[in-house]
Amino acid sequence: MSGGTRFILVGCGLMGKRHIRGLAEARRHGLCGARLVGVIDKVSDRASEAAELAERLLGERPAVFTSLEDAVEGVEFEAADVCTEPASHHLVAEPLLEAGVSCLVEKPLSITVRGCRRILDASIKGGAVLAVAENYRRDPVNRLAKAIIDGGELGGWIGALHIIAGGGDAVLLSPWRHKLSGGILIDLCCHYMDIFNYFFGAPERVSGFAALLRKVRYLREAGGNAVKKTPVEAEAEDFLDTTLHYRDNIVAKFVANLAVTGEGVWRRLVFFEGGSMEIPMERTGEPLRVSKPLDQDYLELMPHTAFLGQKPGEPYSVSQTAAEEIYDRETRALFPGILNGYKMDFWEADSKLIALELADFFRCVEEGGVPETGGREGMLSVAMVVAALESSYAGRSVRLEDVLELKVEGYQARINRDIGLISDK
Ligand SMILES: NC(=O)c1ccc[n+]([C@@H]2O[C@H](COP(=O)([O-])OP(=O)(O)OC[C@H]3O[C@@H](n4cnc5c(N)ncnc54)[C@H](O)[C@@H]3O)[C@@H](O)[C@H]2O)c1
Repeated sequence: MSGGTRFILVGCGLMGKRHIRGLAEARRHGLCGARLVGVIDKVSDRASEAAELAERLLGERPAVFTSLEDAVEGVEFEAADVCTEPASHHLVAEPLLEAGVSCLVEKPLSITVRGCRRILDASIKGGAVLAVAENYRRDPVNRLAKAIIDGGELGGWIGALHIIAGGGDAVLLSPWRHKLSGGILIDLCCHYMDIFNYFFGAPERVSGFAALLRKVRYLREAGGNAVKKTPVEAEAEDFLDTTLHYRDNIVAKFVANLAVTGEGVWRRLVFFEGGSMEIPMERTGEPLRVSKPLDQDYLELMPHTAFLGQKPGEPYSVSQTAAEEIYDRETRALFPGILNGYKMDFWEADSKLIALELADFFRCVEEGGVPETGGREGMLSVAMVVAALESSYAGRSVRLEDVLELKVEGYQARINRDIGLISDK
């Protein structure tokens, strides 16, 4: 277990508080001994709420601040956990990293590639550990999927399809996500791009089409017999159709329509030469399903069912011995007896995945080593979404390398200006 690193939490909104629960979970399982010594939020009530939560769950009340500058003056720390909105990640993390303070930064590392590079460069300059809080790949279901891909038992992969349709006209979590510099697509989809990167590596080229389908969204509150609706103007696109081009003409397709109402869809499939794998949504605990058709299964097809596939998937069977190879010690400690899937609610699973990312970060801070999702991985997942947005903006496909090297920045220019990364002067 790591131990003793003093750290501050910057940003005590939804995710900041979830990180406190994650730390408590890591501590309960002996995976991390870091001490939260200060909580900072520019909204003082939120910082105080976080301090109360920390006192209750961790047994020690951190000092409360409303600015990073006050925290630097008021408390000693070696690390920081940055949970502010993405548009401010560079403003918080850059000076800290340059001063040698290791940072765990919530995803997306920044809202543009330029912002990611600034943070990455600061970590190199300051010689500090930079990790990106990417929790999805730590879900046991994605560890299992990766083991099946790498094990090759279904043959080589020949395609992937991930489709999300939902959201309706609701404000998705918070109004800032619908501002241009909040970028709901970057905020959400960087998770899934990280998963593609984890499974298959970085694509060579990306093509995309993005659109803003709902220009007004609503915050809803229950009020007596009626529902109170407050309109919020939306600027950021809520539809993205992305094609990630890999070598040998293999394509991973990702479609997110966050504006549709009524019945939604969430499906993620990987297709191999010899079968398919369906990976359920993170934090649901649903089992991963695999289909491995035999020649006999083809014989039973009718003309109208020929394109529906040969065989429905079934939960993939994992033995105890295989589980010990697939899941690392910490995952097995947090998900005891894990084989394929788990039974717990969203919040419990969420705390465990955050516990895993915190344990990884603090281990690297204290013992050396490279975090599983460092600055480079964080930047790649942002660049993959941004590449799709750039492609839509330019009306042509783009090379991922060009986006990473800032040769393609047309779409991002306005955001970079908005968040102070470039100026007109
Ligand atoms: N990994 C996940 O599953 C997941 C889920 C939700 C959010 N997130 C990420 O967590 C981050 C925060 O999202 P959220 O939903 O908690 O947002 P939020 O709006 O609920 O909280 C952000 C907080 O940061 C504070 N803040 C902003 N700038 C600050 C500054 N300079 N100094 C101090 N405080 C400042 C705000 O006052 C606010 O309380 C985002 O990067 C988001 O993408 C990740």
